Amino acid sequence: MSLADKRRVRAEVAWWCAHVGFWCVAVALEVLELAGRLTRWAAREGWYRPHISLAVAMSTLPAYWIGPTAGAATFAAMMLGRGAWLVRRFGRACGASSARALVPILFTLSRQHVRAARLRRRWRKLAAPVLRLGHGLTGEPPRLRAFEYPSPVRVTAVANVSATGRHIDDWLTPRMGDLRQLLGKPLHSVTVTEVRGHAGLARFSFRYGSPLEEVQPITALPDPLPGWAFFGLGADGEPAGVRLDLSTLFTGESRSGKSTSMWCYILSALEQWYRAGGDPVEFWVIDLALTEFHDIQPLTADLRPQFNSLDPERGLKGHRYATTQAQACQLLRLAMEEADRRARILTDKHQKKLHPSEDLPRIVIVVDEALRLVESRGDASIQRLGTEATMRLRQILTQHSKFGVSVIAGTQASKIEVLTHIRDWFQQRVAFSTATKEMTDTALGQGAAAAGANCHQLSPYWDAGRGFMHRDGHSGFFEMRGIYLTDDDTAVIGRGEIPDRLLARRGEKTSKEKTPGAVYVIWGAPDPAGHPDAEGVARRCLYVGMTVELDPADRWLDHLGGATREAGTRKKWADKVERIDVIAEDEDTGMPLTKRDAELLERRLVRLYNPSENDIRYLIETEYERELIALGGKMHR
Ligand SMILES: Nc1ncnc2c1ncn2[C@@H]1O[C@H](COP(=O)(O)OP(=O)(O)O)[C@@H](O)[C@H]1O
Ligand SMILES: [Mg+2]
Repeated sequence: MSLADKRRVRAEVAWWCAHVGFWCVAVALEVLELAGRLTRWAAREGWYRPHISLAVAMSTLPAYWIGPTAGAATFAAMMLGRGAWLVRRFGRACGASSARALVPILFTLSRQHVRAARLRRRWRKLAAPVLRLGHGLTGEPPRLRAFEYPSPVRVTAVANVSATGRHIDDWLTPRMGDLRQLLGKPLHSVTVTEVRGHAGLARFSFRYGSPLEEVQPITALPDPLPGWAFFGLGADGEPAGVRLDLSTLFTGESRSGKSTSMWCYILSALEQWYRAGGDPVEFWVIDLALTEFHDIQPLTADLRPQFNSLDPERGLKGHRYATTQAQACQLLRLAMEEADRRARILTDKHQKKLHPSEDLPRIVIVVDEALRLVESRGDASIQRLGTEATMRLRQILTQHSKFGVSVIAGTQASKIEVLTHIRDWFQQRVAFSTATKEMTDTALGQGAAAAGANCHQLSPYWDAGRGFMHRDGHSGFFEMRGIYLTDDDTAVIGRGEIPDRLLARRGEKTSKEKTPGAVYVIWGAPDPAGHPDAEGVARRCLYVGMTVELDPADRWLDHLGGATREAGTRKKWADKVERIDVIAEDEDTGMPLTKRDAELLERRLVRLYNPSENDIRYLIETEYERELIALGGKMHR
């Protein structure tokens, strides 16, 4: 082969290498891209089911090692497990609390499946053409998929409506009335919302009963409105609420949802203050049932001397919270004194009515079991206390609302004569399930039962939280259902915070995201043996602590004196404190301290100052701290 030939062959080979390589890479990329698009399309259209793929992947192992039967058995077992989990979840959504309800749960769940199958059929035939959701070229309507059964009267499904090219709210929402008509009788209503994070996907909710038959979660709480407190929703989705400046009576049988609604009132009142720029509110709580409002103690903590009296019978132990009739009388007396004080302030300012401010917040007296409060049958002391409580309650209810003092009370309608007498002092009334028509009339006013408030037909077992009330500016009675709060929610509300689930729903930062840390060092009087501080004065370090509050002084006093111990101890300690240093920022960056940094700093300062009051001392650097430092925490400042 000549040199020229060799050169030609080499050039040829090089040409092929370059081009074949190029084509291989190009084809591979194209294939990958197609596969990606296919996966994305499958996920979006609901063809891709993660739980099935997982079960298939898992069962390939036994199929490979043991045999095809073992693989099939594994697959079946996993699917069965998932089925059991779904049934259990549905049972919970129906409010079933024990496994004995399995038969009714299975019955209801099968009914939901039948409904879904019917919907699927009718959707293709009727709905899609009317809503004009078909594909532009083929006219093929989108499939209903991802069926879910969030409650016994609701079925939801997702459809891809991007082919219409129109906005869901503009295009579909107004047509939902027609859709309900078309889909036929058992349907109660249809609503549509967009699926968050997936443009073009719409979630349809088909209801087969009044929304009042469903438990309303905390996330359904209506948006706050200044001057109002909401605690539920009506059948039409309108908020059920009362005005903060008027007093409200909640009546119903035991376990009918009164206390839950009052907690919800408190939550909504706090929200309208924090978020909507509404009236500041302060809660004074009388809880003669002892358990229902126990969680509210942090919110009612009060350092004013009148709440810290040492009286064994009437002393309130540092909280605006009364659990006995005697304490309740004391609390009402303080409320009247406060009203008198406000009256004087208003006279000085020539005002007729109080406009709540941070200094003079609206006072809401929360009374659970109001009939127990005014109970006056018994020995002499009960008679005296009952009469006193009735007198004070009447005075507050009838005269002090202009000074920003209002009352919400929950009570059973058992003593008709007593309740009728008290009821008329409340301007707003809400009734939950009652035993008889007379009790409905007692709770809401004469003629309420005849006018359609069927409280006596509700059962506390199925209908807890359902009730009737007057609605501002409407005649007749408004049927509503209270929001359901769990014990965890009430514990958060009792601290004066908004539960995370609600914050997340409102699109706000949740508590986990927003609490920075801070470290505080408390110094006592100079002590020659102590550690000299920056000014060279030898001060005694009393305490080093970590907190998420920026002003920890109260917290520190609580720590030493005990919130419930006598005021004397707190005072003694307060005198000893010379200075409190709060370190809330990173020295280098000026950023708020994270909780982790605060934790590290606390340990380090405890080691450095050896404070006399810390229970825990950190003598050596722990493995944990070293780990935290390795993760980027700061130890030295
Ligand atoms: N809005 C509601 N929706 C569903 N269930 C509720 C609702 N409110 C209360 N419940 C149920 O009823 C029970 C009793 O409520 P509670 O408010 O303590 O009643 P009451 O104070 O009238 O005795 C609660 O434990 C809860 O299970
Ligand atoms: Mg109660």
